[in-house]
Amino acid sequence: MCGIVGYVGKREALPILLDGIKNLEYRGYDSAGILVVDSKGKLSLAKSVGKISNLEKKITNQNFSGSWGIVHSRWATHGGVTEANAHPHCDCSKNIWLVHNGIIENFQELKEALLKRGHHFRSQTDTEVIAHLIEEIKKEKGLSLKEAVPLALKKIQGTYGLVILDRREPHLLVAARNFSPLLIGVGNQENIVASDVAAILSHTRKVVYLNDREYALITPQDFEIFNLDSQPISWRVQEIDWDLKAAKKEGFPHFMLKEIFSQPQSLEDSLRGRLLIEEGNAKLGGLERIKETLRKINRLYLVGCGTAYFAAKVGEYMLEEYAQIPTKAEIGSEFRYKKPVFLKGDALVAISQSGETADTLAAVREAKEKGVLTLGIVNVVGSSIARQTDAGVYQHIGPEISVASTKAFTSQIAILALLTLFLGRQRNLSLVMGKRIAQELSKIPSLVKKVLSQADLIKNLANKYAGYKNFLFLGRKYNFPVACEGALKLKEISYVHAEGIGSGEMKHGTIAMIDKNFPSIVLAFQDSVYEKNLSNIQEIKARQGKVIALATQGDKKIKKIADDVIYLPKTLEMLMPILAVIPLQLFAYYFAVLKGLDVDHPRNLAKSVTVE
Ligand code: M6R
Repeated sequence: MCGIVGYVGKREALPILLDGIKNLEYRGYDSAGILVVDSKGKLSLAKSVGKISNLEKKITNQNFSGSWGIVHSRWATHGGVTEANAHPHCDCSKNIWLVHNGIIENFQELKEALLKRGHHFRSQTDTEVIAHLIEEIKKEKGLSLKEAVPLALKKIQGTYGLVILDRREPHLLVAARNFSPLLIGVGNQENIVASDVAAILSHTRKVVYLNDREYALITPQDFEIFNLDSQPISWRVQEIDWDLKAAKKEGFPHFMLKEIFSQPQSLEDSLRGRLLIEEGNAKLGGLERIKETLRKINRLYLVGCGTAYFAAKVGEYMLEEYAQIPTKAEIGSEFRYKKPVFLKGDALVAISQSGETADTLAAVREAKEKGVLTLGIVNVVGSSIARQTDAGVYQHIGPEISVASTKAFTSQIAILALLTLFLGRQRNLSLVMGKRIAQELSKIPSLVKKVLSQADLIKNLANKYAGYKNFLFLGRKYNFPVACEGALKLKEISYVHAEGIGSGEMKHGTIAMIDKNFPSIVLAFQDSVYEKNLSNIQEIKARQGKVIALATQGDKKIKKIADDVIYLPKTLEMLMPILAVIPLQLFAYYFAVLKGLDVDHPRNLAKSVTVE
């Protein structure tokens, strides 16, 4: 979604703002705009449609001097992708300027009232209304910016990460948050406010996160945080330990490929210090405090969106089979609206790489309101879900830059396996089985390395199948969600129609689609559902459908019936999804590259979906 950076300090703002917003490019956007103000209140403004590089071209040879400014990358919600709709937006007098991420739900009625008061609007956005509202309140009551902003925010319904300045009040940024992420990067005689930590890491690692319905007054020397009643809020500085290298491609043509290949390491990082092989158990520091409460859990909801939902689905199977806790994976955007009936002993686990996905966060809030214990499996430290859940487990995989999630998925499954071990051993999971799971988990990073060594074979397969316009992905039990994830990967970066279903469902409708032009990718390992999957392959072949099978190393039988086979090493059935997804990630990647697509910035998508 939209990216925001604001700077106030002693250095020139332009390069800091541009560097910051470029580091947020991975989030997805369609236009951008920047405003720099000098000490006399002179404004330099540029907006452009498309890439940040277009904005940079516009700025070249212009004097954008000043040590105070804001920049924004927009992902359109209200109003088309035009320069007029790009942020920053301003009031009638062009004194108050702001950038916004979120949606103002009551903008229409506010706008109508402001139009009646004589305000003149220049864009079709919901955002612009905020600038005029502040202008109106300032004028009506004779207030300063810092006095007017909380009054304006009280009139707004919706979500916002906002950075506001008034050129008549030098070196003050007012930042405000409700549901959309916003943080202050604390510097020396300078402060940076941003929607994502990636924007500030090259300047500072000290971060203060704003909470919902709070605003901050930020100057070069200082900042203060208040609630909307203007009462001061105490805050805590957090140190971000992400390696800056993680945000660079380091020789890979795309972040997606880099992240696929980093999975042996990211899995090591997620598992480090958490496996107690001899005890057949897992040590999860973040859950230690509530260990006794966890013993009493009777039912679990695992909530996520997109890829994180498919990880949740794998978790559902693991937790039911090995911890014997009734578990249900739920899609974040559905959960709140279906009015879930919570029972005593319920707990909800929110799974989210970014920790900012609005739908998943809404599910957490729904559960919290009903007094349900909430846990998080989150990558971004200090993110909204991490802060708002009662306890949780961090993924520790460094930033995931590519919009298409890869390393976050495998890490989420690994952590769900740890959680299964931990909760299982609190219940009836035997020491022998616990040890087996822990041992197999410890071997997973090196098995992933082996799978990755087949990248060339998968590239060739992508080449061979590049002409097809439809794909069916099939899997059963643990590999059903992996089939769905494989289809999602292909869709989101290749724009090719793909469907992932449970193999058993094929006969109930989808098989009607199968012919020689509709290939299937079947996850058919030698596991508890092997024979069933073989039958499905036969059924496809009987209808002239092509089959790429993912199979267990050494399986000769499958070679005779499938058109192509990718062999994977053997592991426990519950851990197979971690290995099985890797060829599907690579297949989607090479497929998109062959089509000449912008793999890291797929059309219409944003990395972190912070609006519902
Ligand atoms: O940050 P989150 O894990 O909460 O994100 C959830 C989804 O938006 C995300 O996984 C999305 O489906 C990816 N683009 C898939 O590659």
